[in-house]
Amino acid sequence: MKKILIATEKPFAADAVKGIKDIFDMAGYEVRLLEGYTDQEVLKAAVKDIEGLIVRSDIIGPAIMDAAPELKIIVRAGAGYDNIDLAAATEHGIVVMNTPGQNANAVAELVIGMLIYTIRNRFNGKSGTELMGKKLGLLAFGAVAQNLARIAHGLGMDISSYSPLNRPQKIIDAGYHVHESLQALFAFNQIVSLHMPSTPATRHSIGYDLVSSMRPDGILVNTARQDVIDEPGLLRALVERKDLRYVTDLKLACHDEAVEKLGDRYIFTPKKMGAQTKEANVNAGLAAAQQIVSFFEDGVKKFQVNK
Ligand code: 3PG
Repeated sequence: MKKILIATEKPFAADAVKGIKDIFDMAGYEVRLLEGYTDQEVLKAAVKDIEGLIVRSDIIGPAIMDAAPELKIIVRAGAGYDNIDLAAATEHGIVVMNTPGQNANAVAELVIGMLIYTIRNRFNGKSGTELMGKKLGLLAFGAVAQNLARIAHGLGMDISSYSPLNRPQKIIDAGYHVHESLQALFAFNQIVSLHMPSTPATRHSIGYDLVSSMRPDGILVNTARQDVIDEPGLLRALVERKDLRYVTDLKLACHDEAVEKLGDRYIFTPKKMGAQTKEANVNAGLAAAQQIVSFFEDGVKKFQVNK
């Protein structure tokens, strides 16, 4: 009987866990659940005889793979897979997949929620502003950005985007303005929302020059990854420009310094919340389970990311 582990430091909603278990039960696999663990040693012990692994943002490096000699497949239930060491997985003969798009709507809705909270002054009673008519710039135009554009369009926002991979066709097809450069995106929009993955090219790519070029009362939103920010540059720009705000689902590494220097212009969730809805957990979790069954039963490798 194949042994599968669901290892989630940040647990899925109960409905998702049940749905995942049902899929594996039907396939005749054994499922184990490791939730809310805080120690990598606990994860190491849990993987020793498993063949399939479902994770979220859990860090999976060579030490975990060394401890899992039977492991054939890891599915990251979500879009970004920068938490998994792909080179090490390939060396260990392990297939890595993601479940792209499955939690995109949840992240897009969080962006809107955080923006309204921000421009209504955290609901503190003072007069705020509205999203209608505001310019929203999307950095990259993948699944999250496309969902955000759909919702923002309904709110009457003026949407434009820049494709860092220079593949603007989707933006054009959706009918939005395409920026020719990152600089143009930041200089044009009052609100800029980041939707690129964390890669060597994007890490620390958003810093002083871009942020300080933002329009008056600019808001930078980050529901992508913490490490795409050049933190000293961001902080310097926000300290100089008292009209700018930074809204994020990923607390800065220099969190305490940012709280001290920026006060209520630094708006953050206590824990990464973008994909934390029942619907997103069910979508991504069940997709992950199905991908594991298809891989073992039929050799299907769609969504493999370590080719
Ligand atoms: C993703 O890449 O899919 C999101 O960042 C969600 O991450 P999470 O599963 O840790 O909430």
